[in-house]
Amino acid sequence: MRPKSIHTVYLLKWNTTLTLLLSLTVFFFSATTYSQEHKENITQLDKMQWFKDAKLGIFIHWGLYAVNGIDESWSFYNGYISHQDYLKQKEGFTAQHYDPRAWADLIKQSGAKYAVITAKHHDGFALWDSSHSTFNAKQASAAKKDVLTPFANALKKEGVKLGIYYSLPDWSFKDYTHFTRDSIRYTIQSNPKRWQNFLDLYQGQLKELATIYNPSLWWFDGDWEHTAEEWQAKKVQQFLLNANPQTIINSRLKGYGDYATPEQGMPITKPKANYWELCMTTNNSWGYQKNDTDYKTSQQLIGIFTDVISTGGNLLLDIGPKADGTIPKEQEAILKELGRWTAKHKEAIYATKAGIPKEHFYGPTTLSKDETILYLFVKGNAGGEVVLRGLKNKINRIWVVGEGTKLQHKVVSKQYWSQNPGIKYIQVPDYVLDPQFTVLAVLLDGKIDLYREEGAVIESN
Ligand code: GLC
Repeated sequence: MRPKSIHTVYLLKWNTTLTLLLSLTVFFFSATTYSQEHKENITQLDKMQWFKDAKLGIFIHWGLYAVNGIDESWSFYNGYISHQDYLKQKEGFTAQHYDPRAWADLIKQSGAKYAVITAKHHDGFALWDSSHSTFNAKQASAAKKDVLTPFANALKKEGVKLGIYYSLPDWSFKDYTHFTRDSIRYTIQSNPKRWQNFLDLYQGQLKELATIYNPSLWWFDGDWEHTAEEWQAKKVQQFLLNANPQTIINSRLKGYGDYATPEQGMPITKPKANYWELCMTTNNSWGYQKNDTDYKTSQQLIGIFTDVISTGGNLLLDIGPKADGTIPKEQEAILKELGRWTAKHKEAIYATKAGIPKEHFYGPTTLSKDETILYLFVKGNAGGEVVLRGLKNKINRIWVVGEGTKLQHKVVSKQYWSQNPGIKYIQVPDYVLDPQFTVLAVLLDGKIDLYREEGAVIESN
């Protein structure tokens, strides 16, 4: 081999230094991106924490549509009533018996930690005294008053967080593109000036709402009508976050939000989103409809709620107050029964984690944050045996949540030569049962450990 010339040696050295420098820079840059990402994740985690722990919110659809008791906004959009007749409901929107403190009190009693109210639905009618549009409760309805502010104040007093529902489309506004299903006012391409008028209205109202109410959460709706660019979704997200970096935004701002919003249908498999919220009506309507008496039973609703928290989500349960401001008796009864049940079982609900796969327990479950207590939600009005399969932990104690009775259990089919932990049977006497769902707390000897194998004949360690 030819000996390397001095020149080559220098060149080599220079090369190594360069490579070293380069890798250091790469390392430095990836480290900063990593830590930035890491920081972002932490702030996101921090921001979303109250939402993740809250589990229950109450949705309120209140607007002109409560007067006739018809579909919110959609009734004129779909042509079941003319726009003109729809607007006549203004005269019937009296809010005569509206008691915002009683609303807030009932919501608090239900066990909800936040409430989301329709500040403006697709019909464009605003519940607050907006300086951007006279089509609002104070200036355009028989109520002759701002009905949003007193409710926001009442919620604050009760320590319930405020969420604002705001529809992106405004079908009544003269410069909004869509009016009814078969009539479009104009297209953005043909008249960008009119679209700008609309953008000014909607973004002006959002800034106004942010300034007056500083909501903990924004619940957008109707984003399907335009693209993210047309709505200027990114810009809107930015100014809302600038106004309050802690505010949470739902997914319906064309994806520029924090959490997913399945509607009416309970997800069957565990949603992939880290944060999600199922919104659901108590009957079949969002707003008050006199003719809709098809209410879900308290047991059905509590069952759905347990399924939701068992899979790591929140339930946003809707009520539709009447035009005079009273809450329909059936809905009040539902919230009260929900409240009795959530108060009794709070340790198994709030600030818990999603539970275990259904193969281990035929029903909904949650886990304490440290994963040492497993909560089982048991339906039925007869006691008997509750079955837990594939739980490797030793059980230190079992008790009935909100009632206290200590329960016995027995381990069956555990072989000394097998890793399969066998089946645990818990004896539940009739007299401890809750009329809706009974909750059992299973205190483990450590963090939950589940056996997920097929179960071979003879297993090695
Ligand atoms: C739908 C409907 C709307 C309703 C909302 C509630 O998007 O357009 O009327 O307010 O669902 O989630």
